Amino acid sequence: MNNQIYIEAVEKELEKCCDEFFYDDSVVSKAAKYSLLSSGKRIRATLIFITAKMCDKNWRDYLRFACAVEMVHCYSLIHDDMPCMDNDDLRRGKPSCHKAFGEATALLAGDALLGCGLETISNDKNFSDLIKVKAMKLITKAMGPKGMIFGQELDLKYENIPADKDTLNTIHQHKTGRLISLCGQLGSLDTNLTNVQNEALNLFFENIGIVFQIIDDILDVEGDVNRLGKPIGSDADNNKSTFISLYGLDESKRIAKDMTDKANKAIKLAFGNNSDEIIEYTTYLLNRKK
Ligand code: IPE
Ligand code: IPE
Ligand code: MG
Ligand code: MG
Ligand code: MG
Repeated sequence: MNNQIYIEAVEKELEKCCDEFFYDDSVVSKAAKYSLLSSGKRIRATLIFITAKMCDKNWRDYLRFACAVEMVHCYSLIHDDMPCMDNDDLRRGKPSCHKAFGEATALLAGDALLGCGLETISNDKNFSDLIKVKAMKLITKAMGPKGMIFGQELDLKYENIPADKDTLNTIHQHKTGRLISLCGQLGSLDTNLTNVQNEALNLFFENIGIVFQIIDDILDVEGDVNRLGKPIGSDADNNKSTFISLYGLDESKRIAKDMTDKANKAIKLAFGNNSDEIIEYTTYLLNRKK
């Protein structure tokens, strides 16, 4: 899967955003740039682009939506690593934001990226104000107290208390799934999908959102720190409820594969050959080592 073209495009646009939003002589701006422009996989951006393509749109029109989601995602990572949350010192192969800049600056850098994520949509030139308001509403909902934040809340609550199956699904659906599903919603914004296609798209993204976190849980156990660019064993250290703690490694891998197959089947049925690229991408996501 060659998604380098998408990565390069979003990184170029993110640099433009940084020039727009950040002061040269602010430490918080420097910290936000340090985290944002580091080597993320940009999977959320890529998912937006290939969804737009699948819906017969020009993917480059969706660049600002992709930047917005990458900024919000990066804010969530900065806060997720802080000592009051997962207490992890390494992110994207470099010291975590709070390790490099201190906790107060990292906290503010995360806050800054959250605001900039929304502002970058308001500055978009490709879509009408109506579509932009719709996009912002989708983003705030996905990251909010019934979205990613709720997942993070439960993730912390179920440290030291084993989550049951339903609770674990709720955690993963919210902390990771909501921002991934958001990519499907943004990539299909301003398109004319049938109800059947919309349903398939929702089912597809719900599944691959959970799969993404299952693989993240697996890599936390058997990944390679140098490839992953973040610590191994963080979940066990924090006594987190994960797919591995509940099901073990082999069963977790089987579930991830089954859910991916189910997602791919649904999307193929609704979008035909237009879904080839996104199906190829889910295979990459299922087998990823970083
Ligand atoms: C890590 O996300 C956090 C999760 C939600 C699992 P990614 O694995 O997409 O992290 P980057 O953006 O590539 O660093
Ligand atoms: C993160 O889950 C979910 C977020 C909302 C950031 P993890 O805590 O497992 O992510 P990593 O492993 O630190 O990237
Ligand atoms: Mg976490
Ligand atoms: Mg973490
Ligand atoms: Mg993890």
